[in-house]
Amino acid sequence: MTRLPRYVGTALPSVKPAAPPRTSPAGSDLSAEQIVMAYHERTKHHYHRYAASVGYMDWATQPDPFRRYEGASLVRLPFSERGEALPYWQLYVTDSMAPAPLSVDSISLFLRYALSLTAWKRVHETTWSLRANPSSGNLHPTEGYVLLPALGAIHDRPGVYHYAPKEHGLERRADVDPSVWSALMAAFPEGSFLVGLSSILWREAWKYGERAFRYCQHDVGHGLGSLRFAAAALGWKLFLLDRVDVTSQLLGLDRDTDYADAEREHPELLALVVRGDWASDRGICLSKAVVSQEAASRWYGTANVLSPEHGVDWPVIDEVAAATTNPTTAIDEDFSTLPSEGELFEPPVRSGAFTAERVILGRRSAVSMDASTAISAATFFRMLARLVPTRDGRSLPWDAIPWRPRIHLGLFVHRVDDISPGLYALVRDPEKVEPLRQATGREFLWRRPPSCPRGLPLYLLKEGDCRALAASVSCGQDIAGDGAFSLGMIADYIDSIVTCGAAFYRNLFWEAGLVGQVLYLEAEEAGIRSTGIGCYFDDPVHEVFGISSRDWQSFYHFTVGGPVEDKRLTTLPAYKLEKIDERIKGKHWIER
Ligand SMILES: Cc1cc2nc3c(=O)[nH]c(=O)nc-3n(C[C@H](O)[C@H](O)[C@H](O)COP(=O)(O)O)c2cc1C
Repeated sequence: MTRLPRYVGTALPSVKPAAPPRTSPAGSDLSAEQIVMAYHERTKHHYHRYAASVGYMDWATQPDPFRRYEGASLVRLPFSERGEALPYWQLYVTDSMAPAPLSVDSISLFLRYALSLTAWKRVHETTWSLRANPSSGNLHPTEGYVLLPALGAIHDRPGVYHYAPKEHGLERRADVDPSVWSALMAAFPEGSFLVGLSSILWREAWKYGERAFRYCQHDVGHGLGSLRFAAAALGWKLFLLDRVDVTSQLLGLDRDTDYADAEREHPELLALVVRGDWASDRGICLSKAVVSQEAASRWYGTANVLSPEHGVDWPVIDEVAAATTNPTTAIDEDFSTLPSEGELFEPPVRSGAFTAERVILGRRSAVSMDASTAISAATFFRMLARLVPTRDGRSLPWDAIPWRPRIHLGLFVHRVDDISPGLYALVRDPEKVEPLRQATGREFLWRRPPSCPRGLPLYLLKEGDCRALAASVSCGQDIAGDGAFSLGMIADYIDSIVTCGAAFYRNLFWEAGLVGQVLYLEAEEAGIRSTGIGCYFDDPVHEVFGISSRDWQSFYHFTVGGPVEDKRLTTLPAYKLEKIDERIKGKHWIER
């Protein structure tokens, strides 16, 4: 099995983490909301104590990053050329391209852009893969599924498929009766299909212990973003579905016999992919009765075991997972008071540096930043404007989710031309400016930066050099201070949980992951890089922004800037396996 070098991935605490607890704190009489809040508190990192984890890498139990279903037939997908010429900026221009027909080629490209491998990296004898979707610690807890109609080279009847990224192939998990498929998809346009994500929580818990549930949810958010951008590259739309209680059944995750000793997959989300312009009511769901019929289909394959054994169990992860598994999101919010595209981008972006393919498949995390590259104010404003949904509800990737922004940014600006270094706030929902002003430090200026587009809700809070501060609250990671800017994502936490229910805890992380995915792609387009930062000191971040109430909580960090390439690493292509096997005869990543 491939070992990840220590410097790859989310930082492991350098201070001793809390010892694994013997018992879970959550009693059965706690409400789902209380379980969520208790989990969030106990998984905070503090300067003096990190969230509980084993605190070292137990290489003997390192989970296999590739799930396979033995006994399920594998269809290898072709490598299509179709997307190569599409400029990245055009992804954002609604309805600017004809939707691709549903075919094996378009499904292949969709999955390639969303979840495939994008490179292998090697240093000395160690090799590991990277994917289109980023992952905390590169552990990739997220598994992808598609539910497709009968489709030429794939199968002569509808089916449920697990995506195998190493092979860029589809494992056929179930045949679906054509009449059941028609009933399942009856409310949606012809040629629509479904995509699902699950998490193998153990993959993250292996390294990160109790905080791992948070990281799994970030990864799902990134995955949702990468699916949305992949769909856009084909001219397709993607909508998060409501009624998540059917996800397990639909994807076969509840089939005990198919997992035996293998690690279970936790249902996360289902999304509908439609070709063309389909104005849906938000809060779309599937018929539970029909899903039950689908579950009665013929299923194939048994899941592989990912670790020979599991050292420590983390019961709070199971508890918070159970407390946040909820039948509905039941949200359909009005976007009409958000800014228009014309107010956010002055002028609208109609040119750019790279193709969509180059940006999506070239996306990488910076391992370190150069502490010198500055970006222009125009680039800075454009990146931030991409994070604000437009009032028509159609801007990418925000059209995939039915709720108004609940994640706002507390920015540490270091190197942006013509913009004073200091602390800033991007209030992604302008209606939250006043509540945030009330919740944050009294001394803050709340002043609009010069030449900021009029619809961009960006405010200077305090001028000053905050490079050391940014690194310090990001678990001492220099990348947070050495870039052009970094940020904490401040969630409208308690109000969201109270209004939308405990399950919305996940949605907050998904939204944070979506913000991160946009930043990753925008940084590529700008010729720089970014990195998600899951390791940060929660309450010290709140202190920086003068937040004393639990209402607002930091959910994720990010940094954007000029990267320093690690010259020790060799990059190998994602899929030309035979040739590379010949050359390096490495035993690490040859198919088993
Ligand atoms: C949720 C999340 C948290 C992350 N946290 C950190 C972090 O704290 N420090 C870091 O250096 N990288 C962090 N990363 C970057 C990952 O290590 C990186 O995505 C992974 O190694 C895969 O590399 P790639 O993004 O180039 O594909 C994080 C990524 C994600 C998605």
